[in-house]
Amino acid sequence: MTIEIDILTGDASQPQAQPLLDAVWPPASLAQRPWGHLAFANPDLRILLEADGELVCHVGIHTRMAMWNNRRMNIGGISSVATHPDHRRRGYASVALNAAIRTLRDREDVQFAVLFCDPHNIAFYEARGWQRFIGEVWCEQPGGRTRIDVMEPYTFDIKRGAGGGVIDLCGLPW
Ligand SMILES: CC(C)(COP(=O)(O)OP(=O)(O)OC[C@H]1O[C@@H](n2cnc3c(N)ncnc32)[C@H](O)[C@@H]1OP(=O)(O)O)[C@@H](O)C(=O)NCCC(=O)NCCS
Repeated sequence: MTIEIDILTGDASQPQAQPLLDAVWPPASLAQRPWGHLAFANPDLRILLEADGELVCHVGIHTRMAMWNNRRMNIGGISSVATHPDHRRRGYASVALNAAIRTLRDREDVQFAVLFCDPHNIAFYEARGWQRFIGEVWCEQPGGRTRIDVMEPYTFDIKRGAGGGVIDLCGLPW
């Protein structure tokens, strides 16, 4: 088995990633998700993990100048963690997540990372060192500034922890 990990520009690699994302989140099912009404940012970068030449896992990476407890700072974001249904429980998402965190650590100015997950994935992220953010997360939507309350916010220490309080993503969520 050959495993290959690429870190690609988000926009340029979108056509490559989309079939996997559609297999994990079929477009017809999106409207029924608690977050189906939200507009999301496209990732700046993507981790693409191939096994024997087949794309099996995806992680989106974001960086954003945001506000944390009224302080302006660069934060990282992780989005669309997805392993093809036929290739789960082989450690691919764990490997791809680690690669994404390493990529954020390589950026000198990223303070901590944020992701949003559905309740059934909380145990997966907590087992990988992510901590629930106790507080409010706000974002931009086409209709205006909105509090995110349909997904669970989790953070990961990069330079510092996020603790709790208020995060304003100052843009679309991921
Ligand atoms: C969550 C997901 C990305 C995990 O991918 P994966 O490649 O199977 O993950 P890994 O193989 O690295 O890790 C699997 C481990 O996590 C555990 N795990 C997977 N999903 C879990 C969940 N929802 N809750 C708790 N543990 C979970 C497995 O039991 C396994 O544990 P083990 O290592 O002790 O056997 C995959 O199930 C998926 O694509 N789900 C649908 C999309 C999704 O919900 N993504 C998360 C977006 S926030």
